[in-house]
Amino acid sequence: MKNTFGDSLTVTLFGESHGEAIGAVLDGIAPGIKVDEAFIEKQLLLRRPAGDISTSRKEPDKFRILSGVSNGYTCGTPICITIENSDVKSEDYALFGDIARPSHADFTARQKYHGFEAKAGGGHFSGRITAAIVAAAAIVIPALNRKGIFIGTHIKRLGGVSDRDFTDFKQDISYLSDASFATLDTKAEAEMREKIIEAAREGDSIGAILETAVCGMPAGAGEPWFDTVEGKISHAVFSVPAIKAIEFGAGFGFSDMKGSIANDPFVVTNGEIRTMTNNNGGILGGIASGLPIVFRCAVKPTPTISKEQKSVDMKSMTEENITAAGRHDPCIAHRARVVIDSVTALTLADILAVRFGTDWLA
Ligand SMILES: Cc1cc2nc3c(=O)[nH]c(=O)nc-3n(C[C@H](O)[C@H](O)[C@H](O)COP(=O)(O)O)c2cc1C
Repeated sequence: MKNTFGDSLTVTLFGESHGEAIGAVLDGIAPGIKVDEAFIEKQLLLRRPAGDISTSRKEPDKFRILSGVSNGYTCGTPICITIENSDVKSEDYALFGDIARPSHADFTARQKYHGFEAKAGGGHFSGRITAAIVAAAAIVIPALNRKGIFIGTHIKRLGGVSDRDFTDFKQDISYLSDASFATLDTKAEAEMREKIIEAAREGDSIGAILETAVCGMPAGAGEPWFDTVEGKISHAVFSVPAIKAIEFGAGFGFSDMKGSIANDPFVVTNGEIRTMTNNNGGILGGIASGLPIVFRCAVKPTPTISKEQKSVDMKSMTEENITAAGRHDPCIAHRARVVIDSVTALTLADILAVRFGTDWLA
């Protein structure tokens, strides 16, 4: 399905960066879930640009729930949420007109939509659309929390600076849920902020690795083949613009291990079968093992930069240099982390709805 994700609980995205509004339709949601508008606002705030480490585009992210919620509870029918675009300056983008921004979707959008695509601000490919994902997931996250499932993402690495690992998952996730810059170590935060500012000063951008942990996912959820927990999470995470790699548990680190080190030995803890280590990142055979699900994804440096780059004018077919004016994030990672939490929440809620039925979430 185009622009739609999920099997039982689906989310459909619509809108363009500089159109009237963006939004999401959430379908297959259980009736009777309390909708906390203050929580939706809080989640949107975590994604919103802030200070000198983000784009200067300032969107208030004023959202409206048009359907599917009555007296503060989900009705069980499709929920349509819209978020208006108000801080729109299309003249910034007229400057690069038909010149494809290297690493952005301008060229591939032209191939697919033959020039009819909305161009300003990246159109339907803009990171702005992720606000709709965050708003939709903010309806689902409190319901997952009530079922004991918690999700958190931190910036694991940026510009050569590393954050500490998760230690106490529940405590760390709780800390991250209120952190305006998602690191577990304040020294790492200061150093990473400096790296972002340095890149911005140079008219450049910088990439990062985000690490996500989920605790409380019940063992047994997921499917053994195509709809594996890894597969579904990867599908959703790769839908987030600028994500270019993902690994679960020890991930690529498995290449340097022997089985005796890589294997997670089983033990009985408080009457439950657990594993002593979690190199498999909480997933075995595509199915949740009950251990924390841990994965890392790579966020590429923001494509639009003000340093001069070589490109092509797609209309005149001439080679041109491009220097991007406009308002852009020197780094995407600190805004994307709540987007990763959000797509993870929507994915897990869908997996759980497939296993236990849609009403389980309520
Ligand atoms: C939260 C968020 C903000 C983003 N902001 C920008 C931006 O300001 N400028 C830009 O060129 N790309 C930005 N992007 C990334 C582009 O949308 C993305 O790189 C582009 O659509 C090409 O897709 P791909 O990188 O997945 O191949 C942002 C992405 C996210 C998730």
